[in-house]
Amino acid sequence: GDPPGDPPGQPLPVESRPFASYGSALHIALPRAPRAGQLLTVEIDYEAGEGPGVCWLAPEQTAGKQKPFMYTQGQAVLNRSFFPCFDTPSVKCTYSATVKVPEGFTAVMSATSWEKQKDNTFVFKMSQPIPSYLIALAVGDIVSADVGPRSRVWAEPCLIEAAKKEYDGVIEEFLAVGEKLFGPYVWGRYDILFMPPSFPFGGMENPCLTFVTPCLLAGDRSLVDVIIHEISHSWFGNLVTNATWGEFWLNEGFTMYAQRRISTEVYGSAYTCLEAATGRALLRQHMDNTGEDHPLNKLRVVIEPGLWGVNPDDTYNETPYEKGYCFVSYLAHLVGDQSKFDAFLQAYVNRFKFQSITADDMLSFFLEYFPELKEKGVDSIPGLEFDRWLNTPGWPPFVPDLTPGEQLMKPADELAELWAADSLNMEVIEAVDIVAWRTYQLIYFLDRVLQKSPLPEGNVERLSKMYPKISKAQNAELRLRWCQIVIKNNLEAEYGKVKDFLSSQGKQKYTLPLYRAMWGGSESARALAMETFSATAPQLHVNVRNYVKKILGLEVAE
Ligand code: BES
Ligand code: ZN
Repeated sequence: GDPPGDPPGQPLPVESRPFASYGSALHIALPRAPRAGQLLTVEIDYEAGEGPGVCWLAPEQTAGKQKPFMYTQGQAVLNRSFFPCFDTPSVKCTYSATVKVPEGFTAVMSATSWEKQKDNTFVFKMSQPIPSYLIALAVGDIVSADVGPRSRVWAEPCLIEAAKKEYDGVIEEFLAVGEKLFGPYVWGRYDILFMPPSFPFGGMENPCLTFVTPCLLAGDRSLVDVIIHEISHSWFGNLVTNATWGEFWLNEGFTMYAQRRISTEVYGSAYTCLEAATGRALLRQHMDNTGEDHPLNKLRVVIEPGLWGVNPDDTYNETPYEKGYCFVSYLAHLVGDQSKFDAFLQAYVNRFKFQSITADDMLSFFLEYFPELKEKGVDSIPGLEFDRWLNTPGWPPFVPDLTPGEQLMKPADELAELWAADSLNMEVIEAVDIVAWRTYQLIYFLDRVLQKSPLPEGNVERLSKMYPKISKAQNAELRLRWCQIVIKNNLEAEYGKVKDFLSSQGKQKYTLPLYRAMWGGSESARALAMETFSATAPQLHVNVRNYVKKILGLEVAE
């Protein structure tokens, strides 16, 4: 076709060609070779069917169980089943969409503006250029409530009260601190959509409208770090984007760093270091499970393209997050002055905003910005070479100092130690009062207990009785850890809790570790895995379902 305004175009020959296991290529034959810089308008008529990017949920899969729900999840390479696109983070564009929904439904998108027209039709516009994976749509019986001057929460009617209560009045502070640290928030609004329980992530940073798991509704704001994380993507990921999924750590490592900077400003360094310590424990667990030398345990991952290549979604793990966080912390350590490093981060965002970049682009800019460090050759300090950080698998060669969190971690460390003893010293244990502990202290404690598990015979039963606050917790992060402990200690009396938890939500980071633990456990744990999976498989996101099948050695249909 021709640019808008010119006479209408003509139908062109199109062909679908094999490209990868996770999508095919649409080839369009142009009538004549275009000139460089020439504007072409191509109109593609298509229908989105059963694809992994577009999820169609039955009423039973929602919180209210009355009406169906649909949503899209683009990251990493799923949006190609939603609409034809250059589905790579190296390409950015604006978009607009007109969405017609049935009576009684509302559509929301990751867009800077929207308008409801007649006939249940919604018109959306994203006026900033974004990569394809950030285009997102959800349709359901949803309502909204304001929680700040530029923020509202969206949820099914039965959850809206809880959603408003969880975040009323707290979002704006995170945005304001983010702006102070990293520069202007360019996306206009920051809204939050609470998804149905099978949503596979804690949060997804769709611009203007973060999608989150309903597990965040803990009643006490204790899981707000997920929101701070998604807000941080507003600068790292959504403004400055990794050019390929092989450098996903640029999105997530910088975001973890930004999240903890905001958290430090708002909650102080003790609490933030405690949260970072639980992140480090996750990295430890991940590397223990996969082996430190696993090729995915480097920041720059080789993702072979093509028909027999790797699906970028299969490379998702803790390394880009927590090893990435360590690398950014190392860069800050080289600078040695927090305010100078903050200024660098702001300059970095400003330099690369609306672009897609590689780690080399970032590092060259870093050395340009700090010529005295370049002079000193900080990129090639033996054992800490930038190249080693990027290309060698294994435990990070530098980890930031988390001792400001010691005051919160030490009591938890000591209590875990007490519970791991062959004969329990109940007098000392009973003297420790955990009633006032923050959720992250309990999480940290449980991670320590898990690391020491299996505990001596009988200890976990007593622990369970002693702390109903833990063993009967409603908080998803606590439930995850408790279930892990139950499996590792083969506590059959509490197997029901594992099944209940896995039936109540479908987050990938909760689901896969539990199935891995069950499958690596006793006969009865394996039976529990099979029984739980047959009961819950239909409600899981198709990708999560397939990953579980792989763990359980079941056939995965292509
Ligand atoms: N962008 C990710 C979620 C994601 C990653 C979706 C890869 C698809 C492919 C999001 O920002 C994220 O990291 N969420 C975390 C939050 C946590 C680190 C605080 C999550 O879901 O657990
Ligand atoms: Zn993230």
